[in-house]
Amino acid sequence: MDKGTVMKAFRGRPSIYDRCQTEVRSADLTVTGVSLRFGGVVALSDINLSVKTGELLAVIGPNGAGKTSLLNCITGFYRPQEGAILFNGQNITRKPAHSLVKIGIGRTFQNIELFPGMTVLSNLYLARHTHCGYGFGPACLYLPAVRREEIRHRRILEEIIDFLEIQSLRNKPVGALPYGMMKRVELGRALALEPALLVLDEPFAGMNLEEKEDMVRFLLELNRSWGQTMILVEHDMSIVMSIAGRIVVLNFGEKLTEGTPEEIVRHPDVIKAYLGDADAI
Ligand SMILES: Nc1ncnc2c1ncn2[C@@H]1O[C@H](COP(=O)(O)OP(=O)(O)OP(=O)(O)O)[C@@H](O)[C@H]1O
Ligand SMILES: [Mg+2]
Repeated sequence: MDKGTVMKAFRGRPSIYDRCQTEVRSADLTVTGVSLRFGGVVALSDINLSVKTGELLAVIGPNGAGKTSLLNCITGFYRPQEGAILFNGQNITRKPAHSLVKIGIGRTFQNIELFPGMTVLSNLYLARHTHCGYGFGPACLYLPAVRREEIRHRRILEEIIDFLEIQSLRNKPVGALPYGMMKRVELGRALALEPALLVLDEPFAGMNLEEKEDMVRFLLELNRSWGQTMILVEHDMSIVMSIAGRIVVLNFGEKLTEGTPEEIVRHPDVIKAYLGDADAI
């Protein structure tokens, strides 16, 4: 190999997407009339939206608009006082977060929630817990079925590590990584859950330009090549406008509008919410 050639990792399609077109990947979400209050603070007020399988929906809005609260309702971390959330026709409004992971909703957090003292591989490995089919006894005896399952878990994790190009970080403690890389590991952990619906809360926050470009590439490949359904909350408008299929805008806990990126960027209410008086602009 000549000196100028850059070694690129093999980046095939992770086998978690082999079942792309089946009902396993079905992720139709409907949010109807959801309201959430914290004492006198109205975090969400009568929110209606839907996500269809294969879509990349972005949720935007100024600070405190209720974006994270909405994601927390969808992923079972908050319980709205009013309204209903249906996932593939099933009412999930009152279901706890761990049971939503089992039916295919995986997420990342605005403030990274990884185990900093554990290695990258161990953090990803923990996510496979939901797909663990064997009990304590067979695990202690390391029966052939356990061995086969462990090999499958390991293969899936290595594919995700390859896809996210974090091979060299595999055995590093997460706490020692730069912030942008932690965000990438957190995406890896969410992917290891094999989510039908991937929910991402500000995955680009704190990243430098190169890290953002890589993340855009990963998200586009997940969504456009492999049909991964996603809800993305993000402040970086240039990224949102270039990757989202549809955008929902929140402001002061209310849904301001929704539409394609082209519609949203020209919408006077959106301009007003972000920049002040639209007429003056
Ligand atoms: N656990 C909580 N307890 C009390 N108030 C909360 C809680 N979570 C959210 N809020 C309030 O709800 C409102 C919406 O907050 P939220 O975090 O959803 O906004 P956001 O759109 O994600 O903002 P940002 O862009 O800054 O992340 C805020 O007024 C916030 O203070
Ligand atoms: Mg937030």
